[in-house]
Amino acid sequence: DWTMAEFRATKIAEIRAQVGSGRVICGLSGGVDSSVAAILIHEAIGDQLTCVFVDHGLLRMNERAQVETLFRDHYNIPLVVVDAEERFMAGLSGVTDPEKKRKFIGAEFINVFEEEAKKIGGADFLAQGTLYPDVIESVSFTGGPSVTIKSHHNVGGLPARMNMQLVEPLRELFKDEVRVLGRELGLNDQFVGRHPFPGPGLAIRIPGEVTKERCDVLRKADAVYLEEIRNAGLYDAIWQAFAVLLPVRTVGVMGDGRTYDNVCALRAVTSTDGMTADIYPFESAFLSRVSTRIINEVKGINRVVYDYTSKPPGTIEWE
Ligand code: XMP
Repeated sequence: DWTMAEFRATKIAEIRAQVGSGRVICGLSGGVDSSVAAILIHEAIGDQLTCVFVDHGLLRMNERAQVETLFRDHYNIPLVVVDAEERFMAGLSGVTDPEKKRKFIGAEFINVFEEEAKKIGGADFLAQGTLYPDVIESVSFTGGPSVTIKSHHNVGGLPARMNMQLVEPLRELFKDEVRVLGRELGLNDQFVGRHPFPGPGLAIRIPGEVTKERCDVLRKADAVYLEEIRNAGLYDAIWQAFAVLLPVRTVGVMGDGRTYDNVCALRAVTSTDGMTADIYPFESAFLSRVSTRIINEVKGINRVVYDYTSKPPGTIEWE
């Protein structure tokens, strides 16, 4: 795509002009946006860029390893990985309110990020994968509805507190354009086409208290579900699919024994922008297969249900 090739060249020149010989730090989420921003910036200024990936223990199966492989091995981009699972789990202990989870995770993310930035000697610039819809959405809040449904966590508080200028090379792009740019920069289709994943991660897919044990159970169920979706060739037809671990135990029977374990809900939706969504109409044989596998393979789950709620009235995430 020559248009994206041109965009890439223009942005590289702009980034060089903006940054000069300064140092840039970029928080990676593992998602497409921050990854594409980081790769583009690295192409412009090389090792003046350091990426920081905070593992808050709320990631999906193998997610951290995938980021490490991609950035260190494939692109050779300086990457600091922070294992912050313990402090996030400690802070989430006893927290059940969805907004309190989000606020804590957002604030703690900033704390960890700031500490790491200091450790590497600080930076002059903060890179973010802000897209055009993010720019519009924050503007439209002025005079918009006064009801906050969910306070989406991002790193908005960082630049002011850390006294850094922003580098946001994707500000003019929509999501589908970022995907084209990602491919232009050599990212493979599987990475570029990944479903969105919320900043607070698995914490908002575990109604009630979040614990490491619950995250481990959910990670396994989610991995089985996504593996089956990929095997069935359905991944790209779905906007977002994930498992939710309910804090509800029900009675079951397995072999000769009684079980008393948690319920897992499966969610899959189609959407164009996440603002509205329809449920994905799986065939029942598919859902049966996933259900059987999860119950057989994931200790702690003995019942699987499918969420049949569109948005509105439901939201995509359960919290
Ligand atoms: P909802 O649940 O509001 O989600 O229908 C719409 C889209 O936003 C994502 N989402 C979040 N993303 N921080 C994020 O970065 C959040 O706190 C958050 N909550 C929801 C959700 O995964 C979906 O893509």
